Amino acid sequence: MSTSTADIDHLGRDTIAIVRDIWDAVANGDHQGGNLDRNNLDTTDVQRQAWTILLSRLFPSAQPLRILDAGCGAGFVAFALAELGHTVTGLDLSPGMLRVCRAEAERRGVSDLRLVEGAAEQPPADLGPFDVVISRHLLWTLPRPESALNAWSDLVRPGGRVVGIDALRPEELVRASTGEQYPADVLNVLPLLHARDLDPVENLWRRSGLDEVLVEELRWINALVHAESSVHVRPMIRRLGYYLVEGTRPPR
Ligand SMILES: C[S@@+](CC[C@H](N)C(=O)[O-])C[C@H]1O[C@@H](n2cnc3c(N)ncnc32)[C@H](O)[C@@H]1O
Repeated sequence: MSTSTADIDHLGRDTIAIVRDIWDAVANGDHQGGNLDRNNLDTTDVQRQAWTILLSRLFPSAQPLRILDAGCGAGFVAFALAELGHTVTGLDLSPGMLRVCRAEAERRGVSDLRLVEGAAEQPPADLGPFDVVISRHLLWTLPRPESALNAWSDLVRPGGRVVGIDALRPEELVRASTGEQYPADVLNVLPLLHARDLDPVENLWRRSGLDEVLVEELRWINALVHAESSVHVRPMIRRLGYYLVEGTRPPR
């Protein structure tokens, strides 16, 4: 199928607006019984600890960094990074999710978290520079991931890192986990949601001009999520493939 650039732009913009409305509805609790969780998917202490260990391995507290959490949602990653001593900015498309994150920051007494409304593909002009841009569980819902990657590469200083964390999902999990909230025609235009191996992710990082691109399968996260999931979703969860991808902006 051939698609012109104008079509892609049109589709991308429309899809991003639909995605924003979905997450606003999730934030408002309008999807009762749905599978997208406004308070994120880290439902158990063990899972929370696993992610915190991963983040502290990636960004040790000994070296405080300026970090942008793209698609911060309710702020799990942002809070974990702030607790490690980093200066964190959260960016999210959805005003509703930012409200949830702000309320959580107040509840925790976190006063120095900066929250900004905007699209990961087109962040506000005065954002940055950052030492790191990270996103978790965002890549799958981007209609134009390459635009986001280009924007993030511009937001980090030379020598800074762009890190993505997400999962490869079997098709039935795609439908089961997002189908109630995401219309089928939106699901169909989210390229990384349908990735079956890590090549498209690695290529995305390489094409955006980042150096030292590294892709890592997070099997230990899979194992923990699997072990702690309820019996009826376990067969699907077994086939989830969490991964980490990162690259460095070349020095000038
Ligand atoms: C699955 S949640 C992940 C939240 C958080 N990163 C985490 O790991 O818990 C996806 C979040 O990305 C946001 N989002 C979706 N598309 C976006 C975009 N194009 N730009 C910025 N944020 C976006 C949604 O509003 C939602 O808050």
